[in-house]
Amino acid sequence: MKIGVIGAGVIGKTLARKFSAAGHNVTLADARGVESIQALANWARVKAVEVVDVAQDVDVIVVSIPFGNIPDLVKTLEGKVADRVVIVETTNFWPNRDAKVEAVENGMVNSVWVQEQFGRPVVKAFSNIGAYSLAVEGRPKGSKDRIALAVSGDEQRSKEVVLGLVDDAGFDALDAGLLEDSWRQQACSPAYCTDLTLPELIKARASANRETLRDKQELLFSKMQEIGDEYFKIILSGDYPEGFVDHAVDIVREINNLPARKHTTLS
Ligand SMILES: NC(=O)c1ccc[n+]([C@@H]2O[C@H](COP(=O)([O-])OP(=O)(O)OC[C@H]3O[C@@H](n4cnc5c(N)ncnc54)[C@H](OP(=O)(O)O)[C@@H]3O)[C@@H](O)[C@H]2O)c1
Repeated sequence: MKIGVIGAGVIGKTLARKFSAAGHNVTLADARGVESIQALANWARVKAVEVVDVAQDVDVIVVSIPFGNIPDLVKTLEGKVADRVVIVETTNFWPNRDAKVEAVENGMVNSVWVQEQFGRPVVKAFSNIGAYSLAVEGRPKGSKDRIALAVSGDEQRSKEVVLGLVDDAGFDALDAGLLEDSWRQQACSPAYCTDLTLPELIKARASANRETLRDKQELLFSKMQEIGDEYFKIILSGDYPEGFVDHAVDIVREINNLPARKHTTLS
């Protein structure tokens, strides 16, 4: 497939590299422009393009930018995304990072808001795994303890395409139903960044409590700050010291009263 990835951050660049390695024809675009992402594009073995060109002649676009920047992107892409193109979005709303959005404050599901901005169906995926696990924990289909990711969307045809891309990236894919229910894997729910297998993910989504999500986000953010800048630097570097991934996963497990992850050898 032809895939345009928008956002060359820790999630976008990793997805671009994985999709390319799986045999897709991938382009990568970022607000910084082609020149400044050329080295990243070389690393990912994809072609760097400008954001205004990324939707040209593609089957799928993957939007991996901060939640609060979605309206700007929608303006940039206006009239440029053909109706048949599947839009995947990886965002999570973070109150400490993103400007207040009244609809979200009033309880709108994060991805439903994103869908409203685009004015057409989107698929939420790759949003419930940390950048570190996305980078190092992919396994071939059928591997023991393969991590599962939730895929939500209102249009089944688009969702099927994305379920396949999750598998290509090295993870089991769960059809998690409609976008309206995707709050169950929103930031700091038990299904978020806790690296669960498929049966565990199904249980975790079922156990989610919408009322507690915001408090848990504050708790997680304060725990990350306690660790200090080093934590964020390591996440951005893409170079994870031994034990870092387990530790990062266990912080989120802890706030959800899930057992610590059993250490498995990284492939
Ligand atoms: N990090 C995680 O572990 C994780 C896990 C799951 C989901 N997510 C979600 O996935 C999204 C991406 O996360 P990330 O950690 O990869 O973010 P990131 O490292 O901050 O990267 C975001 C990238 O998007 C670019 N960007 C911002 N606005 C843009 C626009 N209007 N058009 C094109 N590019 C734009 C940024 O460019 P500039 O640098 O020039 O601003 C940056 O390169 C976020 O919504 C995040 O919440 C993250």
